[in-house]
Amino acid sequence: MRVITPGEVETKDLHQFILGAVAPRPIAFVSTIDENNIPNIAPYSFFNAFSSNPPVLVFSSNRRVADNTTKDTLHNAKLNQEVVINVVNFSIVRQMALASISYPAHINEFSKSGLTPIPSDLVKPFRIKESPAHFECKVSEIITLGKHGGAGHLIVCNVLRMHINETIIDENNRINPHKIDLVGRMGRSHYVRAQGNSIFDVYQSVMKPALGFDQLPEHILKSNILTGNDIAQIAGLYEFPNNAAIEKLKTSDARIMNILKSSSHPDENMRSALHKEAKSALDNGNVTKAFEIAMIYQSL
Ligand SMILES: Cc1cc2nc3c(=O)[nH]c(=O)nc-3n(C[C@H](O)[C@H](O)[C@H](O)COP(=O)(O)O)c2cc1C
Repeated sequence: MRVITPGEVETKDLHQFILGAVAPRPIAFVSTIDENNIPNIAPYSFFNAFSSNPPVLVFSSNRRVADNTTKDTLHNAKLNQEVVINVVNFSIVRQMALASISYPAHINEFSKSGLTPIPSDLVKPFRIKESPAHFECKVSEIITLGKHGGAGHLIVCNVLRMHINETIIDENNRINPHKIDLVGRMGRSHYVRAQGNSIFDVYQSVMKPALGFDQLPEHILKSNILTGNDIAQIAGLYEFPNNAAIEKLKTSDARIMNILKSSSHPDENMRSALHKEAKSALDNGNVTKAFEIAMIYQSL
């Protein structure tokens, strides 16, 4: 492993190592307004949601590493304590990139990026019409993390109202992750688009205690076939399969019967063959069957 100790590497390198590893990051497309009522928009990926009750979003406006200057968004957020956070989907990612350019303070980035300002209900800054979700916020606190280039200012935003484009809400009254089509920021100029196969479900009940890796036998844990993700699905079950289910597989499943016939005693080849069958059961979404198959080895 590469060892990186802050203070022993240049800030610009540390910055990029952090950005590369803490990724993908959601992007707050932050709208503010200055003392002359000139709107300002800029993207901030040091951003997340931290509380739902009260609803709180936080983003960080950093001192520029190159010249230690601060940004217009920070100035405006301090000035009138109001921001609108708009999410960034794929269809506006390049317009967002345009808005990230360091224009002078009096320049309206709505005009530069071709995005459309629409009024908010409760705060002065505009919402971005093309973004599929907007949060009207009151800034409750700004926490300064340092005074040198790269230092963040955490801008803590209390959500007063959220707006969601109806077209991205599904029949269960939830945002459909495919329809919202969000992008995230990786290191350097890399982005990720949340769509297609990159969206997948990992269901794990958090209420009921599962078996866990420490309860599983070595012949499963030391598998050459089953990966950590495979074994984690088995470890996520609540109980061991019963003997009757294991015995039934041994006498009724043709593929298992073939594997058992291949050798007179349980050996490494047999264990691998059983684990391949278990893996294919996992691929078909049948975790219980995968566990039963894997436990056959122990029953021999
Ligand atoms: C996708 C993206 C994410 C960014 N995230 C941050 C961030 O979290 N913090 C920050 O200080 N600058 C960030 N930047 C850079 C600012 O957007 C940039 O400095 C911008 O000019 C600031 O505008 P402002 O002076 O109008 O606030 C990001 C840029 C991009 C393109």
